[in-house]
Amino acid sequence: MVIQVSMETKCKSVGIEKEPDRHKAGLRLLEQFESELAQRVTLHNLDLNDKPDITDTTVVFTNNLCFTQELQMTLLDLFGGLKRGTKIICTKSFFGQ
Ligand SMILES: C[S@@+](CC[C@H](N)C(=O)[O-])C[C@H]1O[C@@H](n2cnc3c(N)ncnc32)[C@H](O)[C@@H]1O
Repeated sequence: MVIQVSMETKCKSVGIEKEPDRHKAGLRLLEQFESELAQRVTLHNLDLNDKPDITDTTVVFTNNLCFTQELQMTLLDLFGGLKRGTKIICTKSFFGQ
């Protein structure tokens, strides 16, 4: 998703993934693309519970369908630090159905 968005929109994008194997798979995929694209994409092997700095963001996408309620609350906390007007796209509501 992170790579595709940068490919289609020419934006910079940053991915955060906790599982090392999934992170490495993303890095391997990124290697297959031209360097111009690779320079606009950054993939981090990080746990969202460690509250990474995402404040320099204009659009957030989270595939949070399987996230626990606890992790959802952590994300809401992170979103509280975003700039006004930042768009948040998610696959599961943070506030029930
Ligand atoms: C539904 S999958 C999405 C996979 C892929 N990133 C995508 O968007 O297609 C949710 C991903 O969130 C990751 N994840 C779960 N808890 C996390 C956490 N605390 N910090 C960072 N990533 C986490 C999982 O390892 C999993 O790869």
